[in-house]
Amino acid sequence: MSTVTAPVPLTDSELKLLQTLIYQECGMYFDERRTQFLRDRLQERVKLCQIESFYGYYRLLTSREGKKELTALLENLTVNETSFFRIRPQLELFQKVVLEEILKRNQERRDWSLRIWSAGCSTGQEPYTLALLICDALAYYYLRNPLPFDMPTPKPLIPPPWKVEILASDINYSALVTAQQGIYTESQMDQVDYTCRLRYFEKSADKYAVKTELKNLVQFDFHNLKTEFLPQRNDVIFCRNVMIYFDAAEQKRLIDKFHHCLNPDGYLFVGHSESLFGLTTKFHMIHQNNATVYQRIEERR
Ligand SMILES: C[S@@+](CC[C@H](N)C(=O)[O-])C[C@H]1O[C@@H](n2cnc3c(N)ncnc32)[C@H](O)[C@@H]1O
Repeated sequence: MSTVTAPVPLTDSELKLLQTLIYQECGMYFDERRTQFLRDRLQERVKLCQIESFYGYYRLLTSREGKKELTALLENLTVNETSFFRIRPQLELFQKVVLEEILKRNQERRDWSLRIWSAGCSTGQEPYTLALLICDALAYYYLRNPLPFDMPTPKPLIPPPWKVEILASDINYSALVTAQQGIYTESQMDQVDYTCRLRYFEKSADKYAVKTELKNLVQFDFHNLKTEFLPQRNDVIFCRNVMIYFDAAEQKRLIDKFHHCLNPDGYLFVGHSESLFGLTTKFHMIHQNNATVYQRIEERR
C-alpha cells in the first residue's frame, strides 16, 4: 500500500525566497512556464529532508550544514538532456570552417595548441562528439598538408606536435560522473554512425564505452557558470542549451565572462534556440548553412 503524503504548503513569499536563492547560486531563473516544475522539485526535496515548512527548508539551504542539500537541489533542477552529434549543422560549421581556420592560424604562429571548452557538458556526449570531430579534422588536415616528418606508428589520434585539450564542465556532479565513465546505451548511440563506433568506441555487452585514447583528450571538471573563476584561454567555447535557463541579465554577464575566457578571435557556439542578439556588441555573428557561431571582435590598431 502506498502512502501519499499531503504536499507541504508553499506560500508565494517562500517561493520567491527560494527562487532568489537558486538564482544567486547558479543563475537559473524560473519564469511562469517553469514554476510548476520548480514547485514539484521543491516538494520532492522537502519531503526527503522531512522538513515541515519551506521556510525551514530555506533556512537549511542557507546554513552551513545545508551545503550538501543545496547541491542536491541544484542537481535536481538542472535539465540534462543531451545527445551525440546534437545540432549537426553547427558541428559541421565547427569542423569545416572554424577548426580549419584555427588550425591554419595557430600553425602559422607555430602554436600547436588547441583548447576547447564545453560549458554545461551534461553526461558527456557533447565533449566526446567534439573530441572525435577534432581527431577526424586533424587527420584530414594532414592528409592535405603533410607533416614535414614521419608520423609515429601506430598513428596517434592527435598528430604531434599538436596538443589538444577539451575541457568539459558542469554544475551537476552526477552528470559529470556519468560523463567521466563514458559508457552509453544503444539508444544513446543512435546518432553515432558505424564508422565512428568502430573508430572511437568499444562494445561491451550491450553498451558502448568511449575508447581510452579519445577519453584522455577530455578533462571533466565542476564549474558553476555563475562564478567568476572560469577556464581561460580557449579557442572555442561551446555553451549550448544552458543559457535558456538564465534570464537576460545573467545571460549578459555570462557572455561577458565568455569574452574574457576566449583567445583573441575565438569562437562561441550557443544552442539552436539561443542567441546573442541584443545582449552584447563584443561578438559578431557568422551564419552559414543553417548554423550560427559568434566570433570575438578584436580592437585592431
Ligand atoms: C540541457 S543540458 C545541455 C547539454 C549540452 N550542452 C547539449 O547541448 O547537449 C544543460 C546543462 O547545463 C548545466 N548547467 C545549468 N546551469 C549551470 C551552471 N550555472 N553552471 C554550469 N552548468 C550548468 C546543467 O547541469 C546541464 O547539464
